[in-house]
Amino acid sequence: MIQACIFDLDGVIVDTAHYHFLAWRRLAAELGFELTPEANERLKGVSRMRSLEIILEIGGLQRSREEMDAMATRKNAWFVEYIEAMQAHEIFPGITDLFAKIRQAGMKIGLASSSKNADTVLRKLGIAHHFDAIVDGTMIIHTKPDPEIFLLSASKLGVVPAQCVVFEDAQAGVEAAKRAGMRCVGIGKKEQLGAADIVVAQTGAFDFSALLKF
Ligand code: BG6
Ligand code: MG
Repeated sequence: MIQACIFDLDGVIVDTAHYHFLAWRRLAAELGFELTPEANERLKGVSRMRSLEIILEIGGLQRSREEMDAMATRKNAWFVEYIEAMQAHEIFPGITDLFAKIRQAGMKIGLASSSKNADTVLRKLGIAHHFDAIVDGTMIIHTKPDPEIFLLSASKLGVVPAQCVVFEDAQAGVEAAKRAGMRCVGIGKKEQLGAADIVVAQTGAFDFSALLKF
């Protein structure tokens, strides 16, 4: 029986995954190549530095640690510009309804985001109060697909992993949830998130009654 729902943030609660994509694409353009939406799938869910390593691998480039730090800082400044301009209504439709149903069923709600900007995004949307526990990129050592972030979330929520369901839009996130021994709802396309227990196009399209069958 599911006791807790753990949500990723970027691409699950709000379309900040698109802002990450725009910022990485701009950096790739500066480096002289195009970042396609297909290649971008590999960047979802992983830390900022891991994303940059993947970007350089895609472009067939090598850079020093100092150059990488400068590039990551530049990308983050662009991303922060996007999220500072974000409005509360950019939260995906159906999210607050879903939270209300989860609460009504007596389950807990957690947030598990690899982002170090999660606090800013939650503040902009005014939704931090919905979560019983928040784990972000500043609190973990190993990035998704390592299960650390979800195991830490479960322990903060006081629930065992087998009683948790994770909502994830990233391949790395789905893998992390499965490695944590949790159920997983993939948000996006089946071709990319086939390892999830169910896949829906948008978080708001998830049928709450499906949780009771897990
Ligand atoms: C994840 C995103 O939520 O956070 C990744 O899916 C992003 O695309 C990662 O790279 C780290 O985010 P930030 O804000 O710390 O650079
Ligand atoms: Mg995500």
